[in-house]
Amino acid sequence: MNGKLYQTLKDNLYHIPPVWFMRQAGRYLPEYLKTRATAGSFLDLCYSPSFATEVTLQPIRRFQFDAAILFSDILVIPHALGQHLEFSPNHGPQLGELPDLETSEFIENTNQFHVNLSPVYEAVSSIRSQLDREGFSTTDLIGFSGAPWTLACYMIDRKGTKDFNETRVMAIANEQKFSQLIDVLTKVISEYLIEQINRGANIVQIFDSWSGVLPPDQFRKWVINPTKKIVEAVRIKHPETPIIGFPKGAAFLYEEYAKETKIDGLGIDTQVPIEYAARYLQPICPVQGNLDPMTLRAGGKELDRQTKKILDTLSEDGRFVFNLGHGIDKDTPPEHVEQVLKIIRDYHS
Ligand code: CP3
Repeated sequence: MNGKLYQTLKDNLYHIPPVWFMRQAGRYLPEYLKTRATAGSFLDLCYSPSFATEVTLQPIRRFQFDAAILFSDILVIPHALGQHLEFSPNHGPQLGELPDLETSEFIENTNQFHVNLSPVYEAVSSIRSQLDREGFSTTDLIGFSGAPWTLACYMIDRKGTKDFNETRVMAIANEQKFSQLIDVLTKVISEYLIEQINRGANIVQIFDSWSGVLPPDQFRKWVINPTKKIVEAVRIKHPETPIIGFPKGAAFLYEEYAKETKIDGLGIDTQVPIEYAARYLQPICPVQGNLDPMTLRAGGKELDRQTKKILDTLSEDGRFVFNLGHGIDKDTPPEHVEQVLKIIRDYHS
């Protein structure tokens, strides 16, 4: 059954907005750390449908968020395309050499890609059934993917960096090869999202975490255009499923991104002034965000103040989803999440 997040993205009005947090399943929760230790590595967790189901449900049981988000990672796509991937405890993700896409079987035939991702698809079905079984039948289930630009950043730079300069240079100096990579990613991401919806996700989110490193013309070419194609491809198969876009760091380009891609919801990062979002972005589509994860971690009066300010400014007419402006930090006390939820649930302007 579609829930409050779905209805909000469809433009239904609620006085109290739906709420979920990016990275709501994760290391700040003791129960997550326990399951992760049993599963072994982070990737073992992602590729085990039963463990992935368990950790997806943990924050729902504890906090009753309005939506669950599939537990996985954006980097399973490069992995399923044949690129080596590991998560080292202190250095984040490390990728192997970029596979040769010209000779790759994936361009014509994506069978193997989907076989590699079958544990993720199984996790989606299993999460949906488990939510229903535990009495969360109106909790929405969000599927997700990284966007082509952000995945290309990790595939070419091969680790997290602050500017993704290798990728940026390739996109300019070797545009033909880069554009071929973006096309392959656009195709497989569309299929990946469609299959997650087939298996029970009723909303999907596209994470473009590194869109903020691009100047406007390149942002149009590598962020807006491919995202627009993905939105069109997903809508052919699933016209009713809302799609949230999160072009982190897009700044002055948020507005153009929302208008051009025609996404149903727009994730805004911590730097977007909420007065600006209310005036210029909410008239285009519902916005989602943008509490600062460090304010959440710090807690106290400032957390109360910021939470209320966001509610006062953005939940006036209901085109709003309460969330963070980025993923929850691993050192966040779970009580601070409870503090925010209490303010939201008791909210009256
Ligand atoms: O939101 C959720 O609860 C769903 C699960 C989810 C994870 N990663 C779990 C995860 C989602 C939606 C992501 C998306 C993701 N992954 C993004 C886009 C959003 C963003 O943060 O900008 C990116 C860039 C990644 C790549 C990634 N995965 C990095 C850079 C890291 C290491 C940094 C870190 O926090 O350690 C990860 C690891 C990761 N993904 C963890 C989790 C819970 C921590 C792994 C662990 O348990 O050790």
